[in-house]
Amino acid sequence: MAILVLVATLLLLAAGKLSSGTSSATSLPLIGSAAVYGSDNDIAALLAFKAQLSDPLGILQANWTAGTSFCHWLGVSCSRRRLRVTALALNDVPLQGRISPHLGNLSFLSMLNLTSTELTSSIPLEFGRLRRLKFLALGNNFSGAIPPTLGNLTSLESIDLWGNLLSGQIPKELQNLSNLRHINLQTNYLTGTVASDLFNKTSLLRYLNLGNNSLSGTIPRSIGHLRMLQSLTLQFNNFSGPMPPSIFNMSRLQYMYLRASNSLTGTIPGSNSSFTFPCYKFSPSPRTDSQEIACFGPIPSRISMLCNLEGLYLDSNNFSHAIPNGVGNLTNLRSLMISQNSISSTIPASIFQLASLIALDLSQNSLEGELPAYIGHLKQINSIDLSANLLVGTLPTTLGQLQTLNYLNLSHNSINGSFPDTMDKLANLESLDISYNDLSGTIPQYFANFTYLTSLNLSFNKLHGPLPEGGVFVNISLQSLVGNMDLCGGASGLRLPPCQTNHRPTYHNHRILRFLLPTVIIVVGAVTTGVYMMMRNEVKKQEGRVVSRDMVISTLNHSIISYHEIVRSTDNFSETNLLGAGSFGKVYKGQLSNGMVVAVKVLNMQLEQAARSFDSECHALRMARHRNLIRVLSTCSNLDFKALVLQYMPNGSLETHLHTDGGVHLGCSQRLDIMLDVSMAMEYLHYQNIEVVLHCDLKPSNILFDEDMVAHVADFGIAKLFYGDDNSMVSASMTGTIGYMAPEYGSVGKASRRSDVFSYGIVLLELFTGKKPTDPMFIGELTLRKWIDQAFPTNLMDIMDDRLLQDSFYSWNNFLVPIFEVGLLCSNDMPDKRMTMRDVVVRLMKIKESLAEIM
Ligand SMILES: *[C@@H]1O[C@H](CO)[C@@H](O)[C@H](O)[C@H]1NC(C)=O
Ligand SMILES: *[C@@H]1O[C@H](CO)[C@@H](O)[C@H](O)[C@H]1NC(C)=O
Ligand SMILES: *[C@@H]1O[C@H](CO)[C@@H](O)[C@H](O)[C@H]1NC(C)=O
Ligand SMILES: *[C@@H]1O[C@H](CO)[C@@H](O)[C@H](O)[C@H]1NC(C)=O
Ligand SMILES: *[C@@H]1O[C@H](CO)[C@@H](O)[C@H](O)[C@H]1NC(C)=O
Ligand SMILES: *[C@@H]1O[C@H](CO)[C@@H](O)[C@H](O)[C@H]1NC(C)=O
Ligand SMILES: *[C@@H]1O[C@H](CO)[C@@H](O)[C@H](O)[C@H]1NC(C)=O
Ligand SMILES: *[C@@H]1O[C@H](CO)[C@@H](O)[C@H](O)[C@H]1NC(C)=O
Ligand SMILES: *[C@@H]1O[C@H](CO)[C@@H](O)[C@H](O)[C@H]1NC(C)=O
Ligand SMILES: *[C@@H]1O[C@H](CO)[C@@H](O)[C@H](O)[C@H]1NC(C)=O
Ligand SMILES: *[C@@H]1O[C@H](CO)[C@@H](O)[C@H](O)[C@H]1NC(C)=O
Ligand SMILES: *[C@@H]1O[C@H](CO)[C@@H](O)[C@H](O)[C@H]1NC(C)=O
Repeated sequence: MAILVLVATLLLLAAGKLSSGTSSATSLPLIGSAAVYGSDNDIAALLAFKAQLSDPLGILQANWTAGTSFCHWLGVSCSRRRLRVTALALNDVPLQGRISPHLGNLSFLSMLNLTSTELTSSIPLEFGRLRRLKFLALGNNFSGAIPPTLGNLTSLESIDLWGNLLSGQIPKELQNLSNLRHINLQTNYLTGTVASDLFNKTSLLRYLNLGNNSLSGTIPRSIGHLRMLQSLTLQFNNFSGPMPPSIFNMSRLQYMYLRASNSLTGTIPGSNSSFTFPCYKFSPSPRTDSQEIACFGPIPSRISMLCNLEGLYLDSNNFSHAIPNGVGNLTNLRSLMISQNSISSTIPASIFQLASLIALDLSQNSLEGELPAYIGHLKQINSIDLSANLLVGTLPTTLGQLQTLNYLNLSHNSINGSFPDTMDKLANLESLDISYNDLSGTIPQYFANFTYLTSLNLSFNKLHGPLPEGGVFVNISLQSLVGNMDLCGGASGLRLPPCQTNHRPTYHNHRILRFLLPTVIIVVGAVTTGVYMMMRNEVKKQEGRVVSRDMVISTLNHSIISYHEIVRSTDNFSETNLLGAGSFGKVYKGQLSNGMVVAVKVLNMQLEQAARSFDSECHALRMARHRNLIRVLSTCSNLDFKALVLQYMPNGSLETHLHTDGGVHLGCSQRLDIMLDVSMAMEYLHYQNIEVVLHCDLKPSNILFDEDMVAHVADFGIAKLFYGDDNSMVSASMTGTIGYMAPEYGSVGKASRRSDVFSYGIVLLELFTGKKPTDPMFIGELTLRKWIDQAFPTNLMDIMDDRLLQDSFYSWNNFLVPIFEVGLLCSNDMPDKRMTMRDVVVRLMKIKESLAEIM
């Protein structure tokens, strides 16, 4: 310790000496000539900070040396002119020790990130002096209270204190931080109530996370001021009382996590208001606002107003009565979790109409009634848990339509009847629990055919008859079978009685048999011989055909849709069903036997490597789910035929609307929405999907519109289907389209997230100029980008698409400059100068918000 202090003192002295010498031209390394005093303060603060660290790996010891300008020290960024420290980002560097209050002297600091630095002290009160601070991130392992002085940081946009040991209350002083967009205090030991006015002025907040603390009292009503909120997390706390109705004023909310907030009570709002309110789409156009202000009569409390909601998590509270019908209006909902409450109604029919729903958990309530037939409408569902309720009736035959289902739990209800034959279509099922019901009949053979099924619980029903062989039954345990009527067979370890081929004859039967037996033996003998001969012939025939091998391969690959079904649905690939053709193959419109209209992309696959990776790649594509991506519904593959079954888009492509006479007029805000939608889909593919999926061929003809004119990106990941991981194989002539292809992709054949960003930038520039990058006017050195760059930023009106003039703005340039800036940044020739898709989304959101003001 003494040595550290000594070293620090020496460094301080050295720094002082060097910096005081800056007026002479000889010793310049530390700072330039300007603002010497300010820089002095910054160096002193940094060295004082360093002096209190243990720096176990000596990282700062080796790097923060007097020989280099402090602006080049690890984690330090400076303003260019004044050479003042603007950012200190040492996140994930193991520093250990205590955090120095002297950091509060870095008066130009705008970003401080000391997350995961193993510092252990409390947050210094002096941080309240960083009045230019915009981003504060301190995760692991700060302790003590959140200093009330942070309420002075009026520039603060983001405060991230996730995963610390912070205790005490959330200081009410934070209510003055009117620029906050992001608050994350999750997983601390915060207690007490949340100040009732805390959210009165923080109306720009997008993200609020107070989860996993011990906060108590009611959720403050002022939360209703957060009109821009997109994600709300209050779960795992000790809140009580009713949910404030103002929550349902947050019309942009996409995620609401209130699970185990501990005893929130009341009904889920919305069930008993007799008024209907318009559902606000996420669109900041002035008209929407005026509708909201209109809003006489009682407090609007209909959950159906939150129509942007994608996730609603209300489990483990004390909600009672009914689930409101309005839940069915939340058409973007992907997850609905209301388990462990006291709800006692029938399940509203409308829930089963939510075609986007992926996960539904209503377990551990007192829900009554039957499973309705239209459960089959849940076309995207992966997981259904309705266990521990009071459901009655039989299993609807439409269950078989849930072909994307992986997890089904209906245990602890009173469902009767037998398993419907149609359930044999649930080939993607991984886990099925139907224990503690009243099911009768035999166990269907098809369960043994479900290749993914690894968990099956049939215990405590009234099932009888033989256990099927193979598949999940090979390793099934007795616990999954006990409590049934009369099961037999199975592995010897199960100790079920062996199955008898005939029912044990009664005395009465004995007498009949005595007469019939000889005849029976003769007839059976003859029939058996006949069948045997027929089977031999059949087997012989099949051996000679490739079809049988194909069948085996498709079974292994779990294709849900058969080749036969595809042929039928496309009317044998008839020309009238042809939607388009490209280098990868043709696309047909088709109608499946369940009535669903789909697009079938038949791939020209010749490369042997592609054939090998097709199924694993398809699996990845099928997992990619986003509202702005075309869904890959299914695949079909055998040795010489490969097809993707896709969501059908009835409203054509951006290419047609932009460049043909029949196209619809796309206004400014609509074009912005399209680019925002596309950016969100791309951001998802690049960062949020299970693995990074590159598009490699983004262009207007790959941006398609659904019935509501919402844009969906098509053809993502196709390049990888063809070439596997070996990006260097992707050569310019094979994928990518001239004009949209990044220069490095074209020349070296290297695809990356940045090459996708380039294509995105070109599409954006095209959309707002109405000019294709391949327009004949772009000859020689002049490209679309160069043409725009020359007009930027003052003459953008000259190059924008004339058709946009139909929209009236009072300030065109305020709109066009930021838009074209994004396009230009994305399409920079140098890959590392381009924006990331993440930044594009953020930037476009901002532009969209400001659009409302300038229109
Ligand atoms: C930081 O500022 C305070 C108050 O102005 C001062 O007492 C302290 O010495 C400064 N710390 C450093 C390291 O300069
Ligand atoms: C300190 O780290 C920065 C950033 O990694 C690096 O650019 C610089 O060269 C390093 N300086 C020394 C002296 O190692
Ligand atoms: C701070 O660092 C953490 C950990 O590396 C990172 O996840 C977070 O995004 C950073 N926050 C900011 C504002 O840079
Ligand atoms: C800091 O946090 C890590 C995990 O985040 C934990 O393993 C470690 O024990 C903590 N250290 C202290 C001193 O609390
Ligand atoms: C900062 O906040 C504290 C406590 O809230 C207050 O006493 C102090 O006056 C504030 N300082 C400045 C410079 O605003
Ligand atoms: C918020 O700011 C106002 C004006 O700057 C100040 O008067 C008030 O005390 C502050 N409130 C809190 C709780 O810090
Ligand atoms: C909640 O906090 C506890 C300890 O405070 C921690 O172990 C747990 O992982 C946290 N859960 C989440 C979801 O952050
Ligand atoms: C905060 O807003 C509530 C209404 O939500 C209002 O009653 C209260 O007076 C406001 N408080 C302040 C300090 O503005
Ligand atoms: C929060 O609730 C939990 C579980 O009900 C309880 O153990 C804990 O003591 C409560 N904490 C506070 C601060 O009320
Ligand atoms: C919802 O917002 C409107 C408009 O600001 C307001 O008049 C109304 O009181 C709010 N309702 C609730 C429940 O906060
Ligand atoms: C909810 O859906 C029903 C039926 O589809 C419709 O009548 C009602 O107007 C919708 N309500 C809202 C708020 O959109
Ligand atoms: C199981 O799969 C095989 C091979 O695809 C098929 O012949 C058989 O009919 C299936 N059995 C059931 C009960 O679906």
